[in-house]
Formats: sequence, structure tokens, C-alpha cells
Amino acid sequence: MIDLRSDTVTRPTAQMRRAMAAADVGDDVYGEDPTVRALQERAAALFGREAALLCPSGVMCNQLWLRVLAAPGTEVVVEADSHVVNYEGGAGALLGGVQFRTLTSAHGQLDAAAVVEAIRGDHFPLTPTSLIWLEQTHNRRGGTYYRLDELHAVRDVCDSAGLPLYVDGARIFNAAVASGATPQDYGTVASGLMFSMSKSLGAPVGSVMVGDADAIAEARQWRRRYGGAMRQSGVLAAAGLIALDRVDRLAEDHANARLLAEAAAEVAAECVDLEHVQTNIVYVEDVDAPSVVEALAGHGVLAGAMDGRTVRMVTHPDVSAADATQAADVLRTVLPGVPRHA
Ligand SMILES: Cc1ncc(COP(=O)(O)O)c(C=O)c1O
Repeated sequence: MIDLRSDTVTRPTAQMRRAMAAADVGDDVYGEDPTVRALQERAAALFGREAALLCPSGVMCNQLWLRVLAAPGTEVVVEADSHVVNYEGGAGALLGGVQFRTLTSAHGQLDAAAVVEAIRGDHFPLTPTSLIWLEQTHNRRGGTYYRLDELHAVRDVCDSAGLPLYVDGARIFNAAVASGATPQDYGTVASGLMFSMSKSLGAPVGSVMVGDADAIAEARQWRRRYGGAMRQSGVLAAAGLIALDRVDRLAEDHANARLLAEAAAEVAAECVDLEHVQTNIVYVEDVDAPSVVEALAGHGVLAGAMDGRTVRMVTHPDVSAADATQAADVLRTVLPGVPRHA
């Protein structure tokens, strides 16, 4: 099967497994795991920031950043299709005590002018805004990204309002490779950010928070409370260090995604927005999604139904160019015959 359901389905490489087996480890709750420390130092330096913190998952990073940057009883301005709003089990409200002020957008990126309108000052009884939250790249909107000038425009709004800016960068390296921005560019613009090692970088477990030393120290305390402080997690960090060497190859995933999108557009042009296939995610829209997923599976290709009318395919290191070519042929075969939604 060619598995295009998500870039989370990757398996650790042989090199990662060897590094995990050989990792120098210690008790990270005591701050004594040298491999975790090496990963955190490298991540902080990569983004030009003071400190970093390894966490078990991207959701945990997001939730810890909420604790650090947004007080309970405040409002977080965020794009409506964001991961934190849709896929985190209501944790922002349940555990973080915040409410989300969701803004719709054309393709997943918040417009600076709309953010200005959404910010509410501390005027009783208005709920005050505490944080502006962006997603880079945007998962539910097909892997689209903010250009650097767009990020700076939102940052300027945050600075004027005295608010922090958070970047959920689960796929931030995809954005960097596609846009030509550097991780340092993103580190400069965000008050705090996180990136995932377990998506298209191919590590088995782990995401990393990056920011100021004070904020990361506070996050470490919250990580403990949330049960995410780990012991000999150098085993995971060892794979993460190798994952960080795999950033440049993301361009291959983007090329493979383009191949799939163009094949789909050849036979169903109205269902694919080629302009917004910008990284490793391809959406086929306005089709009967369960039928498409079933038909693709019948030809050895796994895709995901986002809802009744949208199919998602995600490229990643375990999908070769030959796999993508084969999947593109399957799309050409399957798409003409599937039911469409108006
Ligand atoms: C944008 C975004 N943020 C956060 C996460 C959560 O990451 P994890 O699955 O590691 O908890 C995901 C996962 O798909 C994501 O796409």
C-alpha cells in the first residue's frame, strides 16, 4: 500500500534505530539526559532562540504554550480551521481555561487587518485577548503557509497591542523549504513556537517547544503537571537529531505532492486548487470522499476523508518518487468515475 493518509505514518529509518539503540541517556527530569540536552540546544540555536523543550507530542506543546502565553479566562485569536480548535479534544478550554475567537480566512492565513478587528482590550466586561495563534503550515487548509511579510504584518499588530504571537509549527520546516525562509526568520517573528519531529521529518515520537529561557522554564513546570516529563528520553531525542538532518529533503515530498495534484487536476480540474498545493498536502474537493478513498484503496493507495466531500493525501519520506508516480496514475484512473458534490 502507498500510504498517503498522513505524514505521521512514517517509520524511523535504520539510521534512527541505530542511534536510538546507542543513545547516551540520563534522567531528563533531573535535566541529566545528554542527548535530550543536545537536541534542545540544537533546536534553540536553529531558531535563534534561548531555549527549547522536548515534549511527547505536538498537542502537548500547543497546550503547554497556551498555559505559558494565555491566562485562563482570556481569549485567543486563531484561524477557524486550526489544529488547536479542531483536533485537540477541547483541551484549550478544558485544561487551559481559554476561549478561542475564531476567524475565517481564504486559505488558512490570518489577515493582519482582521486580527486588529478581533483584538479586544481589557475593558470590563469584554473578554480580553491574550494571544494571537497562527499555524504554519496550515494542515486543514492543505499545507498552505504564511509568507514572511504576512507573518511580520501580524507581528506588528501584536506588538502594537502588546500581545504575544504563537506559531504552531508542526510543519514549519515544510514552510521554510517551500518559501525559502529560514528557521531563524520564524524564530525572530514568534514569541514562542513548536515543531514536530514525528511528521515529515520521520522521527517516531516528539515535538519541540522553542522560545525564551523564562518561558521554556515555565513550560517545563507545566510539562511536569501534564505528565509529559520523561526519563531516559534521549532514546527519542537521538532519532530527533537525525530528523533535523532531513529538512532539505522535504523538497522531494513537495515535488511528489505537486505530481499528485497535477494528475488529479488533469482529470478533475474543478476539484483541485493547484495554486494552493504549496507543500506536502493535496486536497481533492467536492467529491464523494468515502467513495474516492475506497476506490483508491482498491488500487493500493491509502488516502484520508477529511469530511464527506474532501480527500486528503500527504506525501512524506516513506513515499518515493516512484510511489508518487504510481499513485498519480491511480488518481487518473479513479477520479473520472467518482460521484461529485455540487
Ligand atoms: C498543525 C498541527 N499542530 C499540532 C499537531 C499535533 O501533533 P501530534 O499529533 O504530535 O500531537 C498536528 C498533528 O497533525 C498538526 O497538524
